[in-house]
Amino acid sequence: MLRSVNMKHLVIWGGRPLEGKVQCDGAKNAALPILAGALLTGDITTVSGVPNLADVQTMLALLSAIGADVEEYNGQVRIKTNKLVPSAPYDLVRKMRASFLVMGPLLVRCGKASMPLPGGCAIGQRPVDLHLKGFEAMGATISMDNGYIHARAPRLHGAEIYLDVPSVGATENLMGAASLAYGDTIIENAAQEPEVVDLANFLNSAGAQIKGAGTSRIRITGVRELAGTNYTIIPDRIEAATYLVAAAITAGKVLVENVIPLHLKPVLAKLHESGNTVIEGYKSVEIQGGQRLTPVNIKTLPYPGFPTDVQALFASLCSLSQGTSVISETIFENRFGYAEELRRMGASIRIEGPNAIIEGVPTLTGARVQAGDLRAGAALCIAALAAQGISYITGLEHIERGYARLPDKFRSLGARISLFDDDMDHASGFTGRG
Ligand code: EPZ
Repeated sequence: MLRSVNMKHLVIWGGRPLEGKVQCDGAKNAALPILAGALLTGDITTVSGVPNLADVQTMLALLSAIGADVEEYNGQVRIKTNKLVPSAPYDLVRKMRASFLVMGPLLVRCGKASMPLPGGCAIGQRPVDLHLKGFEAMGATISMDNGYIHARAPRLHGAEIYLDVPSVGATENLMGAASLAYGDTIIENAAQEPEVVDLANFLNSAGAQIKGAGTSRIRITGVRELAGTNYTIIPDRIEAATYLVAAAITAGKVLVENVIPLHLKPVLAKLHESGNTVIEGYKSVEIQGGQRLTPVNIKTLPYPGFPTDVQALFASLCSLSQGTSVISETIFENRFGYAEELRRMGASIRIEGPNAIIEGVPTLTGARVQAGDLRAGAALCIAALAAQGISYITGLEHIERGYARLPDKFRSLGARISLFDDDMDHASGFTGRG
């Protein structure tokens, strides 16, 4: 019998190729900054294509806590910000780092903002110094006490800001604040991710004047106010990558729909290089998984480089390739948390500083494994789909932060997967062997 705690878990019977088609939801990493960006206007904003995720619910709870009226219906969120309370509650910010994205909008709309310092998480320290340095350059005074950051600025003004690293969050936070600041702001070495572009398009649809999003130099000309808008967010490229790599690792044939192939270029290139057949459609990608996976070397980089959010998935894939692969993680300092769990399934992975050296093995075997963060959880799920026998996966609270209906979607592709929300040991008699 399992420990007597009620523990949500997935049971996956592996070893079956995935077949069929699956639809991606809207992008989590576009939804979060855009929902925070809605605070920049006093009018009604309607955002469509919002995925039903735990992180989205946390952001909506945060918006309500700071004074916004929030209505949610069928993937559409309607936000009206009346009297804003420029201080975010600890319990919500502690749950999700992206909560820090409300700092810029609050500061520029209210002239002040207070936020708990968002601690680090499983994948790294994740400081916010670049966000704060940018606000200071725009005229804010920043102070810290009792674990809270306080920013004050009667009126933010434009500034030239050079980001030491092309931080996605800092680019988004500063772009939002600069939209209502007095004068022009230039963000140099800005992040170029599609989600940054989506936020800029959202803000421009509300009357902002942002140029150059998607390049390393963004110019924002501040305006007096933004209007309400209706906006639909982009599809989730990381979710798309997850189903594509799942098809590859099970030697399956899957059509992933509601995708912008351009956003996935480095991922599709590595899928092709590792021996899979990839066919790009207008808003879809079809993949036929290879019978003989070849090793690949991967170096994660800011967009348009290979996304750090996809490296764990490729670690699972490379675990079954015929040779040695090296994955170099350059964005976060602690993003190989999945390695120990994949070793339980028989993978041969050793970590040497920022590199994971993966010796391919003929098969993986089902095991009890624990997800330690969102993308590690997805990597364990796809390894389990390819493994011989039964796997038992806990730590689902991480997976549910970023994947909507993951078990249903895998099941629709023929996977044998079940979600249990009790402490029954459904894998009893579980030996890891079929
Ligand atoms: C965004 O995080 C994504 N999250 C992450 O996705 C993604 O991994 C990351 O960008 C990189 O692509 C959301 O969009 C909500 P960063 P963010 O600021 O904005 C350092 C997922 O799985 N840095 O670009 O927090 C930082 O420590 C999540 O969906 C500073 O040093 O990432 C890191 O090493 C995980 N100072 C690097 O920059 C700062 O002030 C990149 O971080 C800010 C960042």
